[in-house]
Amino acid sequence: MTDVQRVGVIGCGLMGAGIAEVCARSGLDVVVREIDDAALAAGRARIEASAGRALASGKITQEQHDAALGRLTYTTELTDLADRDLVVEAATENPDLKIALFAELDKVVERRDAILASNTSSIPIARLAQATGRPGQVVGLHFFNPAPVQKLVEVVESILTDPRTTARARAFADERLGKTTIVAPDRSGFVVNALLVPYLLSAVRMVEAGHATAEDVDTGMTLGCAHPMGPLRLCDLIGLDTLLAIAESLHQEFREPQYAPPPLLRRMTEAGFLGRKSGRGFYAYQ
Ligand code: CAA
Repeated sequence: MTDVQRVGVIGCGLMGAGIAEVCARSGLDVVVREIDDAALAAGRARIEASAGRALASGKITQEQHDAALGRLTYTTELTDLADRDLVVEAATENPDLKIALFAELDKVVERRDAILASNTSSIPIARLAQATGRPGQVVGLHFFNPAPVQKLVEVVESILTDPRTTARARAFADERLGKTTIVAPDRSGFVVNALLVPYLLSAVRMVEAGHATAEDVDTGMTLGCAHPMGPLRLCDLIGLDTLLAIAESLHQEFREPQYAPPPLLRRMTEAGFLGRKSGRGFYAYQ
C-alpha cells in the first residue's frame, strides 16, 4: 500500500497541470507551485478547463469535480512543499533549472523519506539525484500527455535510487492514481521516447523534404496504422520546444543521426510555433 497522501507538483504547464489534476481526482491533497502569479493563474485555468471537460463528458460527477478542485492549493513559494510525502517536479525541460530545483527541494522537504520525483522526459535521474543529499529518494515518474487520459507512467530508477523508493513510487502510481507503471532505465528517452522520438523526427523530415504534406503523413498513420493521432499532430500536442529539448538530449547521449533535430523543428520553435499550446505548430489552433 502507498503511504503517500500529500503531493507537491512543481510546474503547472501542460504536464504539471495534468499530473496535479490526476492526483487531486485520486483524492490526494495537492500543492501546486509555479514561478510567478501569471504562470500560476494560467496553470490553474488549465486544470479547471480539463476538470470541466471531464465533468461535461460525464467522466466525473459535479461533487467529484468540486472535491478535486478543493484539494488543490496554489503557491509561488517552494517552502509550501515542506510537508509533502511526494513531490513531482514538472518544470521546463532545462537541466540546470531542474538541478537547482532538486537542490532547493532537498532543503525544503522535511520528511526524510519523502519521494522526490521528476517528470523529466530525458534528463538523467542520477544527475538530479546528485543535487540532493538523499539520492536514494529520487526517482523518475514520467507521465504521458494528456496525463489525465494516458494510462502509462514510466518509473525511472537511477543507479542511485533505493529499490524501496522505486517500489513506493510504483505503488503510488499503480494503486493510488490507477495508472500502469513500467520500470524504465535511466538512459535518455527511457523506453517510450527512445522509440517515439525518432519516429516523430522522421515525420518532420518527411514534411521538411517535401515528400508529403503534414495532413497526408497524419492521415497515413491514423488510417494506415490505427494510431490515435498522426505524428505531426502529436508533435503539436507534445509541444515543439519540448520535443526539440528531448531530441537534443537523446542526440547528446547517443550521438546517433536518428535523434538529430531537423532544422525545421528548430526554426519553428525559434519562431514561437510551439504547437497547440501557442496556437500554431504544424496546424493552426483556436
Ligand atoms: N486533458 C484531459 N482530457 C483530455 C485531453 C486533455 N488535454 N485531451 C483529450 N482528453 C480526453 C477527452 O476529454 C475525452 O474524454 P472522454 O472520452 O471521457 O470524453 C478523451 O480524452 C478523448 O478525447 P477527444 O474525443 O477530444 O479526442 P480523441 O479521441 O482524438 O483523443 C487524445 C485525444 C487522447 C489526445 C488521443 O488522440 C491520443 O491518445 N493521442 C495520442 C497521445 C499520445 O501519444 N501521447 C503521448 C505523447 S508522448 C509523451 O507525452 C511523452 C513525452 O515525454 C513527450
